[in-house]
Amino acid sequence: ENATAVIDVYFHVIYANETLEAGFVTDESIKRQVEVLNGDYSSTGISFDLKNISRIQSEDWFLRVAPNSKGDETVRNGEASVLNVWTVGFMEGDGQGLLGYATFPADYEKDPLLDGVVLLHSTLPDVGKAPYNGGRTLTHESGHWFGLYHTFEGGCTGPNDYVDDTPPVKDAAYGCPSKRSTCPGGLTDDTTNFMDYTDDKCMTGFSEGQATRMRAQLRTFRGVDV
Ligand code: ARG
Ligand code: ZN
Ligand code: CA
Repeated sequence: ENATAVIDVYFHVIYANETLEAGFVTDESIKRQVEVLNGDYSSTGISFDLKNISRIQSEDWFLRVAPNSKGDETVRNGEASVLNVWTVGFMEGDGQGLLGYATFPADYEKDPLLDGVVLLHSTLPDVGKAPYNGGRTLTHESGHWFGLYHTFEGGCTGPNDYVDDTPPVKDAAYGCPSKRSTCPGGLTDDTTNFMDYTDDKCMTGFSEGQATRMRAQLRTFRGVDV
């Protein structure tokens, strides 16, 4: 009854010049990144198929892409079901210091050309500095692109992340925390969840409820038969 959704992926490498620090990541790193995604999503019924890597030289875009601003050179492939990833530097301006950001499925129609993930180039596996060089920033951001919120969304009250089997969490966890219980009721926080803020090596899974939500969002907003 449950088909696996195969998500086509297009990478757009935005670079200032042809050095690694200026964003010129290798095809090998991108292939390795897609392997990380496929491993991390192996329990969800979602898999990824790398279709193409394009390269765009633009120093301004590399340095200063701002969250949700559209560069003149915006390029995007495919329909709502297709994942586009732009790798950039987030060196200056509003986006300075970000690891990445993503658009949500329900927002696709607002501006289809902006749909996708904008990712710090040095978060690709083995490219940048620990603790964010395991490729899990894209695991996390694509979780948003599939409609997941952070596990700490809304704090201890309300609908939190709209997923029943993830316990409420008061605020983000960083590093590699040992057992944490931040909300009343004695539940243990899921600090190894991909949708928290811990180090790459310490985030290990999505819950079943998160997988169910991602598939439902794919059906409802991205037209995927899953
Ligand atoms: N802070 C970023 C966000 O909210 C991503 C965090 C990714 N964490 C990581 N260990 N790679 O979308
Ligand atoms: Zn996030
Ligand atoms: Ca929850």
